Amino acid sequence: MIEGRGAVLRTARLLLRSWRDEDQLPFAAINADPEVTRYLGGGGRPLSNLETASFLDRTRRHWEHWGYGLWAMELLEGGRFAGFVGPSHHRWYPAEVELGWRLAPTLWSRGIATEGGAAALEHAFTRLGLERLISIIHRDNLASRRVAEKIGFRPHQEESREELPIVVYRAERPVWEAARGQAGPPG
Ligand SMILES: CC(C)(COP(=O)(O)OP(=O)(O)OC[C@H]1O[C@@H](n2cnc3c(N)ncnc32)[C@H](O)[C@@H]1OP(=O)(O)O)[C@@H](O)C(=O)NCCC(=O)NCCS
Repeated sequence: MIEGRGAVLRTARLLLRSWRDEDQLPFAAINADPEVTRYLGGGGRPLSNLETASFLDRTRRHWEHWGYGLWAMELLEGGRFAGFVGPSHHRWYPAEVELGWRLAPTLWSRGIATEGGAAALEHAFTRLGLERLISIIHRDNLASRRVAEKIGFRPHQEESREELPIVVYRAERPVWEAARGQAGPPG
């Protein structure tokens, strides 16, 4: 079952929505920060405005092709663009669906990526009907690894890709469902 096209998700603090033209400027500012790109591919180098534009083109095409993809993440309070979270097909593992996240540094360490990531993972399992997701994370990106682990990913294998040491995390639906059952009703 693929039921994702146009989906909008809402969490306590976030709106995960489709991209708007006006997201490009704040997103380019996030991608131009070397702290943000430190553990990403391309040698950890910040992205130019052109590279951000082409990233957004690829994101739009991904949505058109698959019916799901990276959401723009917006703070409900104030409506500020915050970054992205969502499932997509990474060129290193095209047969898998990868969950990824990127957030404006002024918002780090408030649990926001965890909140968005948990909602996106739930959507992938319950609405997209996926059995498994992966998350590809630089070995030294401890904040991102922590986000993955908090929402239910477990390290599957360590390897090196394009000279980057990476950990491939996996989240399996039955394990996720069992953990969710044990957590009991919210509140
Ligand atoms: C990775 C990223 C999305 C995390 O966003 P965030 O909203 O700050 O994440 P959260 O607040 O939900 O959780 C971060 C966790 O990592 C922990 N953490 C942060 N920095 C850490 C560090 N240097 N070492 C160990 N743990 C760290 C936090 O304490 C928190 O864990 P806790 O809740 O158990 O205390 C954000 O840092 C980011 O956008 N980084 C740049 C882009 C990137 O690397 N994306 C991921 C590519 S795989």
